[in-house]
Amino acid sequence: MSREQTGATVLVTGAAGFIGSHVAERLLARGDAVIGLDNFDTFYDPALKRANLRAALGHPRFHLVEGDLRERALLDRLLTDHGVTAVVHLAARAGVRPSLVDPELYADVNVRGSAVVFEAARAAGVTRVIYASSSSVYGGNEKLPFAEDDPVDHPVSPYAATKKANELQAHVYARLFGMTMIGLRFFTVYGPRQRPEMAIAAFTRRLAEGRPVPMYGDGGSRRDYTYIDDIVDGVLAALDRGRGYRIYNLGESATTTLARLIELIAAELGVTPEIERHPEQPGDVPATWADISRAREELGYDPQVPVEEGIRRYVAWFRGGRGAAP
Ligand SMILES: NC(=O)c1ccc[n+]([C@@H]2O[C@H](COP(=O)([O-])OP(=O)(O)OC[C@H]3O[C@@H](n4cnc5c(N)ncnc54)[C@H](O)[C@@H]3O)[C@@H](O)[C@H]2O)c1
Repeated sequence: MSREQTGATVLVTGAAGFIGSHVAERLLARGDAVIGLDNFDTFYDPALKRANLRAALGHPRFHLVEGDLRERALLDRLLTDHGVTAVVHLAARAGVRPSLVDPELYADVNVRGSAVVFEAARAAGVTRVIYASSSSVYGGNEKLPFAEDDPVDHPVSPYAATKKANELQAHVYARLFGMTMIGLRFFTVYGPRQRPEMAIAAFTRRLAEGRPVPMYGDGGSRRDYTYIDDIVDGVLAALDRGRGYRIYNLGESATTTLARLIELIAAELGVTPEIERHPEQPGDVPATWADISRAREELGYDPQVPVEEGIRRYVAWFRGGRGAAP
């Protein structure tokens, strides 16, 4: 790998997280410099976040800043001191269900935090910002697959509302200041280092330990599961090719039922799953499914990893001893 800087200097917020750590590594590998900002919050074990950064920390073009994105002075300083040329804003309080427990915190980190990041970028003259939105903005949209122009005015969780708010905030910066503001609606992302409370990580751990797997609803709810490498491809394509104010779905554009997902993981682990049935959870939606034609056409996004292959890779990584508890 080249150690010389050949490209941009990118601020990655949430760089110690699941998606952020993969994005940081890929940017470094292609010759960019990365300033990683993360506050190692305790939503899940910060030791896992430190482990996520192991590879990046050994790289001479990676600089870690430990701090909170809501601190405006810190943002101002790191954008100018490091000559940042673009921002990939991934830091957030993630997760639908926990947002029902502490909606104020979600609003503070995700909405106020994004206001700080966007405004600091503008003030520093950084005109290119890519930020994480979510498939959850589609709420209970009944038209499948979900397309970017579908109405997204009916979120069903505080988390989804914060992500929709981010898209509105971004619009202001594109319209008033001519900034490139690209929002990426990620559809359930999985792969090595997935957040430990997310379904695939939690199910794999439980099945491997011979514990029952909780199934909310009748197992028929469907998700578009997107492998991390495909998401990183989409983030980099948006960084390189995004123009103006634009929103893109990033999914695999295929759906898997919850019952089938459990079967796939169990088969890969070589165990028989024991299911523990629970009623549906508030905030959950029956299906997500991404129409990715816009991302294909404008970004050249072309996801490569179907769920069967992705689960195989995830379980192989887990077997390497890395799927720790939250
Ligand atoms: N994983 C998915 O399936 C998925 C789906 C849709 C959207 N997203 C969005 O993608 C982004 C990344 O998600 P992830 O799964 O990697 O989550 P993650 O929790 O692993 O990563 C987020 C990181 O942000 C950091 N962070 C949180 N608050 C911060 C603050 N105030 N200051 C600085 N850093 C802070 C956390 O410590 C964490 O390392 C989030 O914006 C999330 O909402 C993820």
